[in-house]
Amino acid sequence: MSTLPPPMGLLAELTHRCPLQCPYCSNPLELKRASEELDTASWQRVFGEAARLGILQLHLSGGEPAARADLETLVASASAAGLYTNLITSGLMLDESRIRALAAAGLDHVQLSFQDVDATGADHVSGLKGSLARKLAFAAHVRDAGLALTVNAVVHRQNIARVPQMIALALELEAGRLEIAHVQYYGWAFANRDALLPTRAEVDAATAIVTAAREQHRGKLVIDYVTPDWYGARPKPCMGGWGRQVMVVTPDGEVWPCHAASTIPGLIFDNVRAKPLAEIWQHNHAFNAFRGTQWMPIPCQGCEHAEHDWGGCRCQALALTGNAAATDPVCELSPAHGALAEMARDAATASPPPFRYRRIGG
Ligand code: SF4
Ligand code: FES
Repeated sequence: MSTLPPPMGLLAELTHRCPLQCPYCSNPLELKRASEELDTASWQRVFGEAARLGILQLHLSGGEPAARADLETLVASASAAGLYTNLITSGLMLDESRIRALAAAGLDHVQLSFQDVDATGADHVSGLKGSLARKLAFAAHVRDAGLALTVNAVVHRQNIARVPQMIALALELEAGRLEIAHVQYYGWAFANRDALLPTRAEVDAATAIVTAAREQHRGKLVIDYVTPDWYGARPKPCMGGWGRQVMVVTPDGEVWPCHAASTIPGLIFDNVRAKPLAEIWQHNHAFNAFRGTQWMPIPCQGCEHAEHDWGGCRCQALALTGNAAATDPVCELSPAHGALAEMARDAATASPPPFRYRRIGG
């Protein structure tokens, strides 16, 4: 393992605190409290270790990273360490002066999430009244501060009809990039799958709209598009392959190969309070559990796609089959693929139940 290349990115989940309660949140079902979070000096040390390890990109996430009063200090430290800094935010806890301070501290990029482009829909998904108007004001401050902006729109059965308006919004906000990402089903989203999964016909219609818009706005707006895994024939290379490109540090300092890794029983995680990132990257049990292709079952063993999709998503395999080492059921070669297709059809055609919201302590 001594020749292992470094990861490309570090996802720093600074906090689980958040003003929103999105029912597809990628945070664990059990959220960490503020009293458990790493302090400023610990995060600063981690950013220095990340840069020395060869990591290039730092994604500051949460929860809502701006719930940390020391966000500007953390950005300054990361920038001084030579990391490209991307803030993934709801935009609801940053006023104009704070976004200017972040720009001055060296922030490179802002990724702003939208729950919907319709005010009522946005309130319903986020569990917070008036969130859309506040996000629009925030986006203007980002632009005025000269920061690069990506609009992130999470799509599901309750807003998929508004994909054209999402594209129009990104153009109006002068975003350089729009990410239209269908919900992926693990964690909170798995618990809410019947309320979120669109039908295949709805997905196909949205895909056609995005394809046409990419052509129409080429050179002005880049559109990334993530379709729901459950309608695929081949899985995505989740996280770019387990233990290959990304390290996730949780608010209390545990280091995970992906944001849902704690759902997998038997993995042993290390904590940045006790070990340096470089040692964790090379030697940690959880990172090595599904790294490479040795662990793969048949039909992945020897499959021509094994070093492209890396066997898909371990957390999804666990959620759908009870076995994290199984072939991802999204793959049509998986013995569980037929059952997944049936589950998808049932979930998308039943009337949507009420959302189960993400709440700290709830
Ligand atoms: Fe990917 Fe495994 Fe399916 Fe091959 S069999 S395409 S490696 S998930
Ligand atoms: Fe954990 Fe895909 S979310 S491997």
